[in-house]
Amino acid sequence: MAILVTGGAGFIGSNFVLDWLAEREEEVVTLDLLTYAGNPENLAPVAENPRHLLVVGDIADEMLVGRLLREHQIRAVIHFAAESHVDRSIVGPEAFIQTNVVGTFRLLRAVLSYWQELPLEKRQAFRFVQVSTDEVYGTLGPEDPPFRESTPYAPNSPYAASKAAADHLVRAFHRTYGLPTLTTNCSNNYGPRQFPEKLIPLCLTRALSGETLPIYGDGQQIRDWLYVGDHCAAIRRILDAGRVGEVYNIGGCNEQTNLAVVQQLCAVLDLLRPRADGRSYREQIAFVADRPGHDRRYAIDATKIREELGWQPRETFLSGLKKTVAWYLENEEWLHRVQSGAYREWVERQYGEGRIEKKE
Ligand code: NAD
Ligand code: DAU
Repeated sequence: MAILVTGGAGFIGSNFVLDWLAEREEEVVTLDLLTYAGNPENLAPVAENPRHLLVVGDIADEMLVGRLLREHQIRAVIHFAAESHVDRSIVGPEAFIQTNVVGTFRLLRAVLSYWQELPLEKRQAFRFVQVSTDEVYGTLGPEDPPFRESTPYAPNSPYAASKAAADHLVRAFHRTYGLPTLTTNCSNNYGPRQFPEKLIPLCLTRALSGETLPIYGDGQQIRDWLYVGDHCAAIRRILDAGRVGEVYNIGGCNEQTNLAVVQQLCAVLDLLRPRADGRSYREQIAFVADRPGHDRRYAIDATKIREELGWQPRETFLSGLKKTVAWYLENEEWLHRVQSGAYREWVERQYGEGRIEKKE
């Protein structure tokens, strides 16, 4: 028996795989297409681990997914794979429809066909976890209560709309065919291995190279930040004890404006890697044009997962931020290879022809 993790070479997926292999005995099969956001180096610590297999391929490839499910007797699928960056979805939404909607649909269809063949006991124990986002709920006013699991969907970006569509398909596969699904809606993650196009790693890397730190609009947009390790722990808990067919919101209870986030990042950098001229990185902050359709505020009510499953975040924003900055400072080679595109060359050499499996 094993679990199948889609998108396990990305930011959250790789953290999930590493934590899983450190904490559990069970095998992991990672299925990842290695798009620009997928980096096998994220999984380097488990490259030689006999309990891990990286398969390079598309979630939309039903034949491949079906084969992996059967060959490895998969007992749970944790579905992270997605196009995940809002700004890219504004410039080029089609890839988001292809992977997040069509890809999720085909993945579900392959999983359903496998699940229907399982003996009763294994069918009952099987789980499909859809890893979704708080962005499907749309935007909040300053006085609105945080998103609950019952908040109606109102996605505002092509990314959020594609994730909402995927969540609806997951729900439909549960209600119509009985597939044992669970859906999680999580707030903004930060931590090691996040691709430097998202706010925190983008500003961190630009700070170090002496560039401006771009803040969209007035910087007063609010997000609820959660350390990635806490998100991974929540998913493990939901997989172990969540009720089938349910939705669980996951959040850090940590609402911050974007400006405050970047200012705190600068303060941590000032401590851990002071600028050569002794001045603060805050001086590099610059306000730039806003994101079209920019959601003003997200906030998560995580009462359900706390009361039902006993999960709550372990990191404070400051402790998580210090860990994150320390990881990037200790892994500047990772960053250089990502920024220079060198890791893409390596991916092409290693996995280019015919999308091969790494280990057999
Ligand atoms: P990411 O962009 O870092 O990683 C996505 C991974 O999916 C990459 O490794 C990529 O190669 C892979 N992938 C893309 N298309 C694929 C395909 N067709 N087949 C197989 N693999 C494919 O994303 P992330 O930030 O780690 O997010 C992971 C999941 O969590 C996403 O579903 C996202 O919607 C959700 N989520 C993210 C956040 C956040 O703050 N980052 C918060 C809540 C939910
Ligand atoms: O809320 C969960 C979502 O968080 C996930 O579903 C997405 O996959 C993930 O990318 C993230 O989406 P955001 O759009 O919130 O993340 P991003 O890091 O792109 O932006 C965070 C905030 O910072 C947002 O309000 C936009 C702002 N921002 C972002 C960038 C890249 C800036 O002000 N400047 C920037 O350069």
